[in-house]
Amino acid sequence: MTVSDLKQKFIEKYGEGEFHGYFSPGRVNLIGEHTDYNGGFVFPCALSFGAYLLIRRTDRQTVRFASLNLPFEAEVAVEDLNKKVGKEWVNYPIGVFAQFLKKGVKFEQGADILIFGDVPNGAGLSSSAALEMVTAMAINETYEIGLERLELIKMSQKAEHEFAGVMCGIMDQFASGMGKANHAIFLNCDTLDYDLVPVELDGIKIVISNTNSPHKLDSGMYNQRVSECHAAVDAISQYKPIKVLAEVSWDEFKSLEDKMEEEVPRKRARHVISEIARTEQAVQELRNGNIDTFGQLMNGSHDSLRDDYEVTGEELDTMVEEARKIDGVVGSRMTGGGFGGCTVSLVKDEAIDTFIAEVGKNYEARTGLKPAFYVAEIGDGAKRLF
Ligand code: GLA
Repeated sequence: MTVSDLKQKFIEKYGEGEFHGYFSPGRVNLIGEHTDYNGGFVFPCALSFGAYLLIRRTDRQTVRFASLNLPFEAEVAVEDLNKKVGKEWVNYPIGVFAQFLKKGVKFEQGADILIFGDVPNGAGLSSSAALEMVTAMAINETYEIGLERLELIKMSQKAEHEFAGVMCGIMDQFASGMGKANHAIFLNCDTLDYDLVPVELDGIKIVISNTNSPHKLDSGMYNQRVSECHAAVDAISQYKPIKVLAEVSWDEFKSLEDKMEEEVPRKRARHVISEIARTEQAVQELRNGNIDTFGQLMNGSHDSLRDDYEVTGEELDTMVEEARKIDGVVGSRMTGGGFGGCTVSLVKDEAIDTFIAEVGKNYEARTGLKPAFYVAEIGDGAKRLF
């Protein structure tokens, strides 16, 4: 769907007149998984696909929401833009409106909104963060509210907590808001300091493999991991008082590990603390052009997510195992929350066709699911289109 197709659809739905369009991307995380809500490092990049939002301010006192992906539509009174509408997709944009209301913004006028997304839903590529972020950008500009981008990112994360019930970290909304073409974002999730690191992969591409097993990132499993990390913080605090796991270095953890009696918090901490160290090292290796070592760190990340964090599952493990069998694969790991969704692999150009054919065939034979593959382009963060 091109931008001019989207404009046409908007006019068909809401009629002629002035309106504007915004875009915010999904993301793929190269390394640094389940570290964000532990104050650690992440290294995601924005994708070229994401969520589009077309908006017109109206004289009515309601906001109309429609999507080109899903049939459900809603018309919500401006004063009700902080109330959930069943379990419908509109809760993502409404959740963002609610954050503006919380800040004391009064919407005197309503709007007509049309949404279109081309991030595969439930694939762990942050379709929801893209939708939240594009909504935040559009509201901020349409109603001339003037908030900073970082504030919009934080509000989008809050919308996910309060309206989707997922106690996520800030990585996805940050990547969607701050991404830059051909760069990955090395973000310290504690301080929110970040560097845009050029991703110049000579003769290598980022290939995303979708297990097509919907990532069951229901609030349940994800929030359980978040609380297990809190339990790990408590356990470690008996020896060294900390607020987040990122305060513990790998060497410190090694000396503490045996004292932690309970297995689950110990394993979760081992993943998080080792992953933070891997991420920091991986960024350094990339900066020094050591792609092979970067790939090995990606592999280490997956293995830790499988064995210690236990968020991979059969489909992601199978996809990664098959990927690693292909000559020309530099590294392969799950990306995002886990429990299904996508893997990310670095694949040499000459191996890409074989990769897609072989991994596709073998994955399907082993799981009965048909996978999908995307050669990723690293795109820009949230922006106004017209
Ligand atoms: C989901 C969350 C992120 C992050 C990842 C795991 O995508 O939304 O905040 O925790 O899982 O790294």
